[in-house]
Parts: sequence; structure tokens; C-alpha cells
Amino acid sequence: MTGRLPGDWQHDVVAAAAAAEFRDFPRTPLLSREAEEVAFISRGRVHADQVRRDLPWLQRLYRGYFLELAGRTSPERVQPASDHRYGLVLNVQRGATMRFECHVDSNPLTGLLFCTDHPAGSGGELVFGHDLAAADVDAVERDGTVIRPRAGQLIFFDGRQYPHYARPLSSESDLRVVAVMNYYTESCPESTRPPELNRHLFGDA
Ligand SMILES: [Fe+2]
Repeated sequence: MTGRLPGDWQHDVVAAAAAAEFRDFPRTPLLSREAEEVAFISRGRVHADQVRRDLPWLQRLYRGYFLELAGRTSPERVQPASDHRYGLVLNVQRGATMRFECHVDSNPLTGLLFCTDHPAGSGGELVFGHDLAAADVDAVERDGTVIRPRAGQLIFFDGRQYPHYARPLSSESDLRVVAVMNYYTESCPESTRPPELNRHLFGDA
């Protein structure tokens, strides 16, 4: 995708990621596939309003060229989220203790634009479990597909069935940033998004 991105896109993204909210995030209702004893997962989030403000070119791609590409992956009409709070956000991992929660998605089509490179052995891989019933990271790791992020690579998937998570980084000085884009289809429209998720993330419905 790098030909479609501004020349200094990675610099912009890393700068935006520095302003992420870093904290322990409680496990997500309904969608979490973490072991029961895991109450919190530490990570960073650049919220949708920050992305719109700091990375307007990414917002345009979400609703423009990336939407067009998303549409090619589905026999159905694909739409971006109309609620700006969860359409496009950045997930950020800094250092070796953060990771992304093992979960399934509620939206039928997710786009990820990897914004940082993670060579073999450095961690940060996205792992999809093959077992629909996998209910923790160990189960996903026992039988899964590993995707190593490459900056500028865009992938689309339906993450409603297969549990997935992002491994921690190996180095305390490393940074992982991914842009996460929620898309919807006619058979699974935005109105199906569980209200519990918005209450959990934003404190309201
Ligand atoms: Fe997901």
C-alpha cells in the first residue's frame, strides 16, 4: 500500500501513536477469548477522534480507497462505520509487556493496515487460532496461523469466528502500531453491534 500512502506516513503514524492512551484494558464483554483469570490486558489505543484529527489522510482512505478494496473481498455491499468512535482506531504496543487481547470480532469485515515492521523473532505477530472454541492464548498458539506485520501491508478478514490476538514484542524499545478498520455488510450491519461493547468502551450505548 505504500504507493497509496503519503511519503511521511509512517512518521505521522508513529507521532500519533505517541499520544495513545496506554493502560490496562479490562477484558471485552462477549468477545474476549482470554483465560478466565485474565482480567486486564495492557496496551495502547489512539482513539478515533485523535485519528481523524492527526491522520486525516488515513480517515480518507478508510472511507475511500480502502473501502473500495474491502468491497472487492465481499459479495455484499460493504460500508464503513457511521459511528466515528470505532470505525478507525490505532492499536499500539510499546515495550515487551503489552499485547492485544485474544478475542473475536463483532463486525463482519476488519481491515488492518500494519504500520510497523516486525522481523522474525521480534514478536508482535498477529495469530489466528484454527479452533473456533479456543478460549485462551495457549489454545490459539497450539494450533494457529501466524501473520508477521510488514509496514504498509493491508489485510482484510472476517474475525467473527476465529479467535485472534497480537503477541507481545520481544524488545523493551520496540513499537507496534496497527490501524484497525471496522466495516459492515448488509447481512451484518452496524446495527448488530452489541450495545455492551459501546458501554464497555465509551461508557454509554
Ligand atoms: Fe479483532
